[in-house]
Amino acid sequence: MAKTFSLILLLSALCIATIAAAPSNFIKSSCSTTTYPALCIESLSVYSGAIQQNRHQLVQTALFVSLNKTLSIKSFVSKLNKFRGLKSREYAALHDCIEEINDGVDRLTRSLEELKLCTVKGEDFTWHISNVETWVSSALTDEGTCTDGFAGKALNGKIKGSIRARMVNVAQVTSNALSLINQYASNH
Ligand SMILES: *[C@@H]1O[C@H](CO)[C@@H](O)[C@H](O)[C@H]1NC(C)=O
Repeated sequence: MAKTFSLILLLSALCIATIAAAPSNFIKSSCSTTTYPALCIESLSVYSGAIQQNRHQLVQTALFVSLNKTLSIKSFVSKLNKFRGLKSREYAALHDCIEEINDGVDRLTRSLEELKLCTVKGEDFTWHISNVETWVSSALTDEGTCTDGFAGKALNGKIKGSIRARMVNVAQVTSNALSLINQYASNH
């Protein structure tokens, strides 16, 4: 009896967890045209309550996901930079990478500010959203430059691997944000 009861409890818990994590159809269909749809759905479905069917909110959340991940990489790479005993070219690669990341943070922050102005209709919307597209696309280039910088230099394998994995993830999230911004611009 007790066993059956625990089983029912477990099943209900699983069921609730599945419902809570279920992405909305709006998020699924918006993500379907991005380059990394599974990652897009995974990173946005937690916020489906706030997003609802609102394209502006969807783009804003996608940009925040990208900015937050970029900030967490920034703190990770900055910590690595304090390690003793790396080769000087390793420090140089880390230093370049931190600069690229900082540029990315600036551009994503400016994009979020500019996105706030994308509420009006007509030409103003087109102007502001095209600025957002430009800056997010530059942020994506910065992220790629950081990753490429590590590819070429003889860096410690572990450091290189852990930075690259994080940079690839943030670049994919940013690329998805850019697709959603392009969608927002063309559907307006
Ligand atoms: C981004 O980080 C801020 C500040 O820590 C937090 O309030 C916000 O919920 C985060 N947003 C996303 C989409 O991760």
